[in-house]
Amino acid sequence: MIFELSEEQKMIRDAARDFAEIELKPGVIERDENQTFPVEQVKKLGELGFLGMMVDPKYNGSGLDSISYVLAMEEFSKIDASASVVVSVNNSLVCFGLEKYGSEDQKEKYLKPLAAGEVIGAFCLSEPEAGSDATSQRTIAEDKGDYYLLNGTKNWITNGNSASIYLVIAQTHPEKGSKGINVLIVEKGMEGFSIGPKENKMGIRGSDTHSLLFNDVKIPKSNRIGDDGFGFKFAMQTLDGGRIGIAAQALGIASGAYELALNYAKERKAFGKPIAELQAISFKLADMATDIEAARLLVMKAAWLKDQKLPYAKYASMAKLKASEVAMKTTIEAVQIHGGYGFVKEYHVERLMRDAKVTQIYEGTSEIQRLVIAREILK
Ligand code: CAA
Ligand code: FAD
Repeated sequence: MIFELSEEQKMIRDAARDFAEIELKPGVIERDENQTFPVEQVKKLGELGFLGMMVDPKYNGSGLDSISYVLAMEEFSKIDASASVVVSVNNSLVCFGLEKYGSEDQKEKYLKPLAAGEVIGAFCLSEPEAGSDATSQRTIAEDKGDYYLLNGTKNWITNGNSASIYLVIAQTHPEKGSKGINVLIVEKGMEGFSIGPKENKMGIRGSDTHSLLFNDVKIPKSNRIGDDGFGFKFAMQTLDGGRIGIAAQALGIASGAYELALNYAKERKAFGKPIAELQAISFKLADMATDIEAARLLVMKAAWLKDQKLPYAKYASMAKLKASEVAMKTTIEAVQIHGGYGFVKEYHVERLMRDAKVTQIYEGTSEIQRLVIAREILK
């Protein structure tokens, strides 16, 4: 067993670290405060190849492995989880789904601009009344011969307003349950497609989360990915990889908070010595470091299995479950180590604490990860 990164993987990690420090850190507090989408930063991420990291270069991707992807996700998320969720959705949900299951025409038309970062994408599964219970879709894609007529509402869609290309999961044959669902490529600007108001969120406030409304939108049959009824399997298989991306995001939030707390504890003095020399504080730091390392090993294992083309769904869920819980616990302790300073925005840890929470909710809540893991180990 070799726990060593390749030179290329180290280079990607370092490039992502530099990008986070130079491009993401300035203005991150203001973007959070004002709920501003990181437009310029996302454009640069695209130009540097971070929005199509694992896509084949023949479709404008960077042709990297999943390990490189999680290393980059960790570095971006240490500083700005609102930017990193754009990276995660575009790479592991939208580009992956199109590259793995799309037709050649769909890859030419949609994957190429997405992988080049010329446009960004969104993945639209959740609905007002179908979140964890994802098969109970109410959005209908009615088969009209050479097109589908799309009606319904999607909720909580990341990149909701900033995206140009949307992968929309909808029910075509309700009587067939999960086997009656399709996935359609919807373009911004199609007649009858409108975007609801932006959600005012606790965390990842720079990310634009919207509901989407479809009112008699005509979608050509050629925009369906895969066979009739493949939409639910598409969503589940794509989310298996997506969960690795969110696990890496959670890991980054945790390690970002830990690094800030470690430095602060060495500098802040109380009772005549740095607080890091108080056992109560040093033990917190020891627990944080240990939890983060455990989470990192799971994230790396899930990414490695995916790269080896071995089954990875169980490990993706384990990695997301563990890393998101570590992110929450670590960020709470990072605020505690900062005392009153941790409670104000300038010290960054309060934002990381708010950002951590969503990693336990989206791409399947912690309860859903446990359900997936339990089903895997019991079958
Ligand atoms: N891979 C392949 N097939 C899968 C699968 C997987 N990982 N998971 C399920 N399936 C298949 C099943 O085998 C089954 O097919 P068969 O009937 O042929 O056997 C079919 O799908 C239905 O599966 P289940 O009976 O297991 O379905 P269920 O109703 O019990 O639900 C669930 C399973 C795991 C709870 C699923 O609904 C789920 O993952 N829910 C969470 C939804 C979610 O993660 N949403 C994320 C939205 S995207 C997002 O959040 C993005 C973001 O924030 C940035
Ligand atoms: P519910 O499913 O109503 O869950 C409520 C509670 O019940 C949770 O604690 C849940 O764990 C628990 N619960 C439900 N079922 C079970 C069960 N069987 N066993 C045990 N506990 C259970 N979705 C997209 O499709 N695309 C996106 O881009 C996207 N981005 C998002 C961005 C943000 C900021 C947020 C907050 C959400 C986003 N989502 C997105 C939606 C997200 O995936 C859902 O919120 C999530 O799957 C949970 O669904 P729900 O909110 O309907 O909660």
